[in-house]
Amino acid sequence: MATKKLVTYERLGCDASILIDSIKNKPSEKSAGPNLTVRGFEIIDEAKRRLEAACPSTISCADIITVATRDSVALAGGPNYAIPTGRRDGLVSNPNDVNLPGPSSSVSSAFQAFKAKGLTLNEMVTLLGAHTVGFTHCSFFQDRLSNFQGTGASDPSMDPGLVSNLTKICGTGSDPKTFLDQNTSFVFDNEYYNQLKLKKGILQIDQELASDRTTAGLVSGFSSSRIRFDQSFASAIVRMASIKVLVGNAGEIRKNCRAFNPRKRTVVSSRIPQRKSSPRTPKIKNSSRTAAPGKKRKNPPRIPILF
Ligand code: HEM
Repeated sequence: MATKKLVTYERLGCDASILIDSIKNKPSEKSAGPNLTVRGFEIIDEAKRRLEAACPSTISCADIITVATRDSVALAGGPNYAIPTGRRDGLVSNPNDVNLPGPSSSVSSAFQAFKAKGLTLNEMVTLLGAHTVGFTHCSFFQDRLSNFQGTGASDPSMDPGLVSNLTKICGTGSDPKTFLDQNTSFVFDNEYYNQLKLKKGILQIDQELASDRTTAGLVSGFSSSRIRFDQSFASAIVRMASIKVLVGNAGEIRKNCRAFNPRKRTVVSSRIPQRKSSPRTPKIKNSSRTAAPGKKRKNPPRIPILF
């Protein structure tokens, strides 16, 4: 499910910019605070390695993330949805562009971030249902366990039994982890919403969905109907995966998901006489990747393909 979180943080622009490694003097999105705990990069690398071997420069890293997410949701028992492909990879990865809500955000401020990308409140509540699987580090919710907002007590919206379990877990080691859904932790189901109703949401933003008057009804609806959640999730994630997608000639198909393709050098000084053919320049064969004389090279596919 690690790829799932990868997609989460790629969510507000599906161009695989989160996969780019930082290099000297050039930090990438990976180095931005909210992305530091994102994992699963090696799974994408392995898929890319195999795809490049079979079919070079054809499948983007952005599509790999999207399809890997679709598959990990289905493998964990969630809905199996069709998702359009044909995305291309972005040419920019800047940590200053990462502007995600935090785990203690209020519902309304988290919604502002989703709304800015064209997503609805219903879609936000649905997508947070992905917290039905995976882990969170204690540092993201520890403030709820004691002296919550300076009260000297734990967060009253958290079940006292859960407070005491989490206090034990978080008191050991350095920033341990716990399940986001304490009941069916490995199953992609609607149990997350039931847990919220039982005051067992781990992150503050999760728990607030159950009490905020704008979202409480949606939480109740999803907690009582797995089918409703599955359908809503499939449609919301397809919408999320279509945000800021690059197609046609925009962006590129990266060879390595962690680095932009090397830029081609095209500038030739007109003052230096050119030899007709240099012995060091290999002749380019007329392969399928090179347009035949008089024929226009085809653009990459624009029509989304449903996987
Ligand atoms: C308001 C929006 C959101 C906030 C504040 C938020 C926050 C967080 C935090 C703090 C963690 C724990 C990170 C860690 O300890 O490594 C987490 C994990 C996770 N999030 Fe979210 N999240 C949000 C939305 C989403 C969305 C929209 C999805 C997917 C559609 C998602 C999927 C996940 C998954 C699967 C994990 C578990 C990752 C793992 O096990 O490594 N989240 N989230």
